[in-house]
Amino acid sequence: MIENYKEAFEKTRSAGIIAAGALDEVAKIARPGTRTEQIDNLCYEYLNDHGAFSAPLFYRGFPKSCCTSANHVVCHGIPSSKILKDGDIINVDVTAFKDGWHGDTSRTFEIGEVSIKAKKLVRTTYEAMMKSIKIIKEDIFLGDIGATIQNHVEAEGFSVVQDFCGHGIGQQFHKEPNVLHYGKKGTGARIKAGMIFTIEPMINLGKYETKTLKDGWTAVTKDKSLSAQFEHTIGVTKTGYEIFTLSKNR
Ligand code: MF3
Ligand code: CO
Ligand code: CO
Repeated sequence: MIENYKEAFEKTRSAGIIAAGALDEVAKIARPGTRTEQIDNLCYEYLNDHGAFSAPLFYRGFPKSCCTSANHVVCHGIPSSKILKDGDIINVDVTAFKDGWHGDTSRTFEIGEVSIKAKKLVRTTYEAMMKSIKIIKEDIFLGDIGATIQNHVEAEGFSVVQDFCGHGIGQQFHKEPNVLHYGKKGTGARIKAGMIFTIEPMINLGKYETKTLKDGWTAVTKDKSLSAQFEHTIGVTKTGYEIFTLSKNR
């Protein structure tokens, strides 16, 4: 067990609630005709209005306050003048930095009426994340998390992205351990009460391979198939877990 993690949990909780609140506001404008830079502005303002900063803004040169990853974009999409249209799916990823601590969360939104396949991809991705969160308690293995996600996703015929993973988080945005979204039960490190990390599976309709565009950020599926993602920031306790980035919606 990690000693004295009460303060870490309290501060991550307050950052997490703000990040989740920003996504609740994004949900209201995630509709046909919205530009992704409007989503970015909303996130910037919301975080500032709630005493937080955007952690992605200027992180390793990232130019915006959130990531907006539509359709075949896997993650790290850069908000722009791109206009959302009926049938799109788009992941919005928000990380709040408040009082020295981070809260990181993302959701995939359906724009207007989306295809049955896209709906199933989004639902399966969310289910896989939640299923893996529900097994968390002290002394399970990191591989148990990956295996739970991979089994759920592959049973539906989808694939798990391997080029990006969840991560420890706290006073640093990204730290150890790497939390893989695939793997085998009983492998990897054992998790300890007091640990804080994200689970953020990226799931593809087609093959798992990705590539990064020339902007140095935007990751897309190699086969151009749709990709969905959800993310929560989680704290491990002796008997279970706490989700720091919950809201009334997700
Ligand atoms: N929020 C992303 C994550 O889940 C990281 C975004 S870093 C950025 O880890 F620079 F691309 F914004
Ligand atoms: Co993250
Ligand atoms: Co994130």
